[in-house]
Amino acid sequence: MTVRVLFVCLGNICRSPMAEGVFQHLVDEAGLSDTVFVDSAGTGNWHVGERAHRGTRNILTKHGIAYDGRARQLTTRDFGQFDYILAMDDSNLSDIRRRLPRDSNAVVKRFLDFADDVPTRNVPDPYYDGRFEHVYELVHAGAQALLDHIREKEGV
Ligand code: 4NP
Repeated sequence: MTVRVLFVCLGNICRSPMAEGVFQHLVDEAGLSDTVFVDSAGTGNWHVGERAHRGTRNILTKHGIAYDGRARQLTTRDFGQFDYILAMDDSNLSDIRRRLPRDSNAVVKRFLDFADDVPTRNVPDPYYDGRFEHVYELVHAGAQALLDHIREKEGV
């Protein structure tokens, strides 16, 4: 079986690529690369085709994580293809829910809903304040909690 996980933010250049990179790294370390498929997308289309923001690339490199994804926009097709569609904040979640087909079986939640020990449910946008290190700490905790959840829930 394959578990398919999509991280979604606004621009797909700061937060969701960071979550994708960190989560993929944890998946690889856990030996689950062939079992868990990871991707990211943005609700908006302003940055389609661009590399991740320099701040995200720098923080991933600093933590030994390779990432070379390009921004793309969330599509209707994603709703039928992914098992988990995870929003970085409340605004992303309502945008996703507005587009969600009635017959979708995807689990649609905020990414940090799985991280009981993290005091916020929203990943703040570093595009505006440059706090990439702070965001990395949240994303790392969220990614670990998500992997624990998926391993238990999906039995992988
Ligand atoms: P992200 O950050 O949603 O974490 O990728 C943003 C990137 C770009 C913009 C806003 C947020 N923008 O307005 O272009």
